[in-house]
Amino acid sequence: MPVITAPYAFNEGHLFVDLKSICGQPLHLKCEGFNFAGSIKLKAANEMVESAERDGLLTPESILVESSSGNLGVALSMIAASKGYQFLCVTDSRCNLSTRLLMEALGSEVHVIADQDSNGGFLGTRIEYVRQLCASDERYVWLSQYTNAGNWRAHYRTTAPEIAQQFPDLDVVFIGAGTTGTLMGCARWFRQWHRPVRIVAVDSVGSVAFGGEPGRRMIPGLGMSMRPPLLDESVVDEVIRVEEADTIRMCHRMARRGFLFGGSTGTVVSGATDWLARNDARGLSAVAIAPDMGERYLDTVYQTNWLQDLYGDHVLTAEGLDTGTGEVESATRTSERRSRP
Ligand SMILES: Cc1ncc(COP(=O)(O)O)c(C=O)c1O
Repeated sequence: MPVITAPYAFNEGHLFVDLKSICGQPLHLKCEGFNFAGSIKLKAANEMVESAERDGLLTPESILVESSSGNLGVALSMIAASKGYQFLCVTDSRCNLSTRLLMEALGSEVHVIADQDSNGGFLGTRIEYVRQLCASDERYVWLSQYTNAGNWRAHYRTTAPEIAQQFPDLDVVFIGAGTTGTLMGCARWFRQWHRPVRIVAVDSVGSVAFGGEPGRRMIPGLGMSMRPPLLDESVVDEVIRVEEADTIRMCHRMARRGFLFGGSTGTVVSGATDWLARNDARGLSAVAIAPDMGERYLDTVYQTNWLQDLYGDHVLTAEGLDTGTGEVESATRTSERRSRP
């Protein structure tokens, strides 16, 4: 029986969903939403705060500040509340309402940025805002998830070994890319493992993380409007880009079977399903990572008006949405293969 005194001390690291009957491919989904912050970002937040504490960067007067599309902000709000720090989250207008309310309920201040940067995203504007805050008052401490090595080390220490322990014959792992903390930590760990594992990064169409044209992206978590500073492409074998309409369809396909996951999980599972269908997956051991659960997306991904306004009336009636056959819809995706250096 786990008994804890601090909310950041618990994380379910060994829960996997077998998606074969839902997506028609041999795919296991590692669920990272079962902790008090509700997402995979608890791991990065813990690691970054603990390393700042070890380095003596945090004092009782410190005000933690971070740019976050939401989940890291919730995790830092929870840790800050528990440890007695103040926390200010700089987010943008794509942040889910429930995520913002959660941060405020945990006692954090939230500043919402509405001005887009030159790539049509908000990241550049958010980061500039944080820089100005830090220049204005020395009590601000910016952990900077985009550059902080603790972000990828958390996954090197925990996420990758948790997968390896359950899947000793793993062949391929699908990992969504935002800051690329999860991707880099897992890719580096598997590079040193006893067998080769294909590392497939999943990005959203419109993200410029791996190059490509910038475009509208409405689902928070995955994708970047700049190149992620943590990204080292030499440890990534392949990149898949998924259209948001396909993300939405996969989220609803899983929800119809009782699994309510967050938007980026739909992206990763959609990309993985398509990859496995194209690559003769028979006999392959494949895992994808689900960063969070679906409740935070009830007013977006799971709300009919929001979907119709952004993606058109037919986004959920298009060919292939859970026909009950387990077959996969055809989708517009691009994929780049990389060979290991
Ligand atoms: C829901 C969700 N999915 C995916 C990601 C991407 O993870 P990472 O920043 O480790 O690349 C995040 C990060 O915030 C997220 O909140």
